[in-house]
Amino acid sequence: MSDPLLAKIDLFVNGRPVSVPVGNTLLSAVSKAGFGTTRTSVTGQPRGPLCGMGFCHECTVTINGLSQQRSCMIAASAGMLVETAPPL
Ligand code: FES
Repeated sequence: MSDPLLAKIDLFVNGRPVSVPVGNTLLSAVSKAGFGTTRTSVTGQPRGPLCGMGFCHECTVTINGLSQQRSCMIAASAGMLVETAPPL
């Protein structure tokens, strides 16, 4: 019998497969996949998560084609396709 606390979810960040524990946020998956930049500013500057609690909107990513989603506020789900700003 497997321990549910050890269960993992598999998803993709910028095409890279990543596995995170159940209950983790997408931001956790983005970080674990090795991406620190989540979006770019209007002037093209790299931006990354700041607050981790939904206020700053610096962690926005595209999820399954839906843009402008705050990755710190959404739980990772199996098979999600997450896209950040182009990696630098
Ligand atoms: S890190 Fe600030 S809204 Fe997600």
